[in-house]
Amino acid sequence: MNPRFDDRSFTVAIVGCGGFIGSHLLDAVLCRTKWRVFGVDLDFYRIQHRLNDERCEFVCADLADPETVARLARFPVVVNLAAICTPSRYMGEAPAVIRSNYDHPAALADACAKSGSWLIHFSTSEVYGRTGADSGVLDEDSTPLVFGPVTASRWSYATAKLLTERYIAGLSGLKWTVVRPFNFVGPYMDYMPGVDGEGIPRVLANFSTALLRGEPLKLVNGGKAKRCFTSVHDAIDFLFALFDAGSGTAQNAGVFSQVFNVGNADNELSIAELAQKMRQIYAEIRGVDIATLPEPQVVAGEEYYGTGYDDSMRRLPGVEKAERLLGFRASTPIDVCLRESLTWFVKHYSV
Ligand code: UGA
Repeated sequence: MNPRFDDRSFTVAIVGCGGFIGSHLLDAVLCRTKWRVFGVDLDFYRIQHRLNDERCEFVCADLADPETVARLARFPVVVNLAAICTPSRYMGEAPAVIRSNYDHPAALADACAKSGSWLIHFSTSEVYGRTGADSGVLDEDSTPLVFGPVTASRWSYATAKLLTERYIAGLSGLKWTVVRPFNFVGPYMDYMPGVDGEGIPRVLANFSTALLRGEPLKLVNGGKAKRCFTSVHDAIDFLFALFDAGSGTAQNAGVFSQVFNVGNADNELSIAELAQKMRQIYAEIRGVDIATLPEPQVVAGEEYYGTGYDDSMRRLPGVEKAERLLGFRASTPIDVCLRESLTWFVKHYSV
């Protein structure tokens, strides 16, 4: 396989094509290459503008459907972005979360191993587990992966994702690459509760919703946990670096059978700091004084998310491997990420 970006006969398959990352990837593939796309998702609202594109074929289905899995594995590159990845669901819906994040991707991996497709599987930075506040750089190949007890059902998702990584890595004959995203942010991330989704989305969508509704931002357990927020545009650049390297010959074989962190180590913030930054940016967007916005409110994790909630206190990605093997380093500064995301959210949901 040698998918030069100008090859009109080449098709990339994208599972989760209508999701947050998938919609950005679809746009980028259509703009930066001459490739065709075979897209699979249950949700298409983010990509309506692409549904009639003659270079795209879309199927409304999910990986629970064996026929869809068989069709996907006919393409030379399959990017799997599909997942239930809403933290509030990890506690109450653990069986569904595990099935969607293990059973279905494992079936896809089996099919790709048989057909010879290159599977680019999106896992999660959450596989680093219950990291403490003093944990250092998380390295793909040396950091131990330690979760909380079974009663801490928060780890249902990470457990399933890690099992899938191990399954993929152990599957004979499969050409694979695993990606661990570190808190990607950007337009079209998640949803606004009560408008186009239910439950509790990830922190950026929650804070954006609260700002728009004039409600206090909720700081779980004081907002002491830290995350490195990464622009979705950097994530797409990573994928293009991967496509590029994977389409070459033996000298690029280093991208196969590898796990990559994709994160921006320069963008680390505690959640309390994130709240302050977002209040400030929102005040600027609206042209109001920050003092007129409600102060953040501290909430207990189990009260907010339900019994079994637990947390990673720090998630600092090791970025050396992606730089060494792919020449990739995420570069969008935190203020740019947050301003873009919040501006989009305000515009999108104010209508
Ligand atoms: C989630 C997913 O579970 C991961 O699989 C995924 O990789 C990750 O998002 C991601 O986006 O990459 P997490 O980082 O815990 O993991 O995502 P959030 O739900 O956004 O929470 C981040 C932190 O903010 C947590 O400490 C959480 O307790 C806190 N939080 C969240 C608040 O303080 N207030 C809120 O309203 C929401």
